[in-house]
Amino acid sequence: MKSISHLDDIPSTPGKFKMDKSPYIHHRMRWHSSLAKLTFWSFLFMALIFVLFLRSPSSSPSSSSSQPQHLSDPSRRYLQNTNWGGPAWEKRVRSSARIRSQKGMSVLVTGAAGFVGTHVSAALKRRGDGVLGLDNFNDYYDPSLKRARQALLERAGVFVVEGDINDEALLRKLFEVVPFTHVMHLAAQAGVRYAMDNPASYVHSNLAGLVSLLEVCKSVNPQPAIVWASSSSVYGLNTKVPFSEKDRTDQPASLYAATKKAGEEIAHTYNHIYGLSLTGLRFFTVYGPWGRPDMAYFFFTRDILSGKPIPIFEAANHGTVARDFTYIDDIVRGCLASLDTAEKSTGSGGKKKGPAQLRVFNLGNTSPVPVTDLVNILEKLLKVKAKRNIMKLPRNGDVQFTHANISSAQRELGYKPTTDLQTGLKKFVRWYLRFYADGKKSAE
Ligand SMILES: NC(=O)c1ccc[n+]([C@@H]2O[C@H](COP(=O)([O-])OP(=O)(O)OC[C@H]3O[C@@H](n4cnc5c(N)ncnc54)[C@H](O)[C@@H]3O)[C@@H](O)[C@H]2O)c1
Repeated sequence: MKSISHLDDIPSTPGKFKMDKSPYIHHRMRWHSSLAKLTFWSFLFMALIFVLFLRSPSSSPSSSSSQPQHLSDPSRRYLQNTNWGGPAWEKRVRSSARIRSQKGMSVLVTGAAGFVGTHVSAALKRRGDGVLGLDNFNDYYDPSLKRARQALLERAGVFVVEGDINDEALLRKLFEVVPFTHVMHLAAQAGVRYAMDNPASYVHSNLAGLVSLLEVCKSVNPQPAIVWASSSSVYGLNTKVPFSEKDRTDQPASLYAATKKAGEEIAHTYNHIYGLSLTGLRFFTVYGPWGRPDMAYFFFTRDILSGKPIPIFEAANHGTVARDFTYIDDIVRGCLASLDTAEKSTGSGGKKKGPAQLRVFNLGNTSPVPVTDLVNILEKLLKVKAKRNIMKLPRNGDVQFTHANISSAQRELGYKPTTDLQTGLKKFVRWYLRFYADGKKSAE
């Protein structure tokens, strides 16, 4: 069938165009023809400019800042890491995922070179589960810290494959080599403020990446049970405390929160249609050794030590900003208990065979601490006075306080946090000073 478009009106060979005899019409036709030509060439020119703009490095908002180019070009990011496959690689994958305890499971941990992923992978390995890590090692924060965590896992017998969760071919290959019983999905673009610089990275990892992973999980046989990280940020502007899983979560205060909330709805869909067993964990401000440099407790430590002023946010009317800081070991126990209590997925061949488990739990500490107290503790541990720069809480994603109601996790997972902020920060500071002691590793 002939396609019809406005370009069809333009004669390809103008000389053969049948002219009208009337001078007025003749003149009008010439005018129309020139106008059509002008429109055509202008259109072509603008299309060319548009293509050049898309291909230009300066078209991304982050390229003018210190952010890496590939983060703002999500479609290309994972294509850079196609270095997988082959018999030796498969052997490493199999060996890492081999179960070494009687009731063990084989777990694919995404985001394994991340803060929580490293701790969860190491803990699973310690108790004899088979673990394979997956991480794209993006440079949202210092990748050398991720590499150091990878080396730590390597020594513990965990292989971290370098790849992106959007790479479905890689995911399918991994499931072909190892029929994982569980997936611990921690890979994500974290951080609330960075969403204003690079929103695409949140869509890439937290939405497209999640769907890509669930697509593969729903189609493999047997389907794995999935435990994944949502976030306390889904409570957004909720003011009812402590935050309970039953509270409203439809007022996200950042794009990060919105992608996590969307993730919870996406999880519901895959559970409903395909029978995937899904458990979402709403972590509350996790901290500890091997932590994330973009989080306040981490960069406060760095800046206090280097004499740089630290920003301390204050809500309206000098209101206190507080966080339910949760120590990493407590979070790890919550993750492992979620994996242990996860029921099997019920689908096969991409089809649901019966109702499957769908859960959401808060994993917090249940005792919010003002950020000023966090600074007081750090000052004592570091033996350095902080230069406090009191500022108004900006409206760019941060909320005034978080406070978890954990009765559901207590009841169903036996979750019981045991580390207070003072004890946990002491362990963090000890790690920090040792890790950055030689001055060779960057604390940026
Ligand atoms: N740390 C916290 O306080 C906290 C609080 C709430 C929720 N969470 C969630 O917990 C999870 C782990 O957080 P974290 O603190 O360890 O963060 P992290 O940034 O240290 O770890 C995430 C890891 O995922 C990797 N990653 C990101 N996108 C990827 C992709 N597309 N493909 C493959 N790997 C990718 C990153 O390289 C990183 O190593 C995240 O889902 C985060 O949103 C964390």
